[in-house]
Amino acid sequence: MSIVLVTGTSTGIGLATAITLGRAGHTVVAAMRNLDRGGEIRDVASKEMLPITLVQLDVDNDSSVDNAIKQITKEKGQIDVLVNNAGIAGPGPVEEVPITVFRQIMETNFFGSLRCIKAVLPSMRERQSGCIINVTSVAGQLGASPLAAYASSKWAFEGLSECLAQELKPFNVRVAIVEPGTIATPMTTTPTPAPPPGPYSLHRRRIGALFAASLKTPTSPFEVAKTIRDIVDGTSSRLRYPAGSDGAALIQWRKCKTDEEWVNLGAASDAEWEADVERNLRLDVKL
Ligand code: NAI
Repeated sequence: MSIVLVTGTSTGIGLATAITLGRAGHTVVAAMRNLDRGGEIRDVASKEMLPITLVQLDVDNDSSVDNAIKQITKEKGQIDVLVNNAGIAGPGPVEEVPITVFRQIMETNFFGSLRCIKAVLPSMRERQSGCIINVTSVAGQLGASPLAAYASSKWAFEGLSECLAQELKPFNVRVAIVEPGTIATPMTTTPTPAPPPGPYSLHRRRIGALFAASLKTPTSPFEVAKTIRDIVDGTSSRLRYPAGSDGAALIQWRKCKTDEEWVNLGAASDAEWEADVERNLRLDVKL
């Protein structure tokens, strides 16, 4: 059984992962920015007597990460597995999304995870043992408008992960990339005010329709948590794991096209786009 640190556990995939790993018998440290938001995980842990404890950790903040890692190391001895799950989204076309928002998304999704990785690396390398699981996204493999800020952060995170996997191979530290598709969590289900119509409304409409169609048969965050649990419980050095019911299909949607075919989708008619989605993702997306 491993000692596992999971970031961003107050909701969604992080919450499901902490519970799933606790149910599998691992010692879980569930990290979150605000411990007041830990009601759900505390309830489940106490009802089921799961080995889960909570720690305050804001991945954006150097001293918060340092303090959390020190506290965990003092209390548990070591961290065997780090699950970098904390993340934020922020849709919008490049022209309209302020640089500050690009920076914030990069800060949490990329630098936040990097910060946690750097904090656990020395001891994993010295012990020649450990596992780092990075929750990226299918958006780390495909770039679709209007998700540039989010996709950029996840592509960067994928690049970091692939380099790191190679770098840590001689030290017996595993790196795995988990790429969820559309998962029913607050990130995708929290209603957001519709932006006023503009030159990029077409793309906003299409991504909204894609999410809505996918969420008609919602994939639970526990599906992704199972993938993460299997990585923790296994010994495979496989690098990438598409996750959720549509993760693999979404990645394949991009892979089956040339770069130019993919780009041309941005100017396809609604009927052409709908047909493409229907053919490749088996989703009924009537715009
Ligand atoms: P969520 O919004 O429920 O969970 C994200 C968690 O990260 C929240 O608990 C939030 O409080 C935490 N968080 C945000 N900023 C933080 C910070 N600075 N420090 C610590 N924690 C912070 O959404 P979800 O879906 O569970 O997201 C989890 C991960 O899965 C994210 O990295 C997301 O990008 C990724 N993902 C989600 C998909 C989906 O369809 N829901 C699809 C692909 C990837």
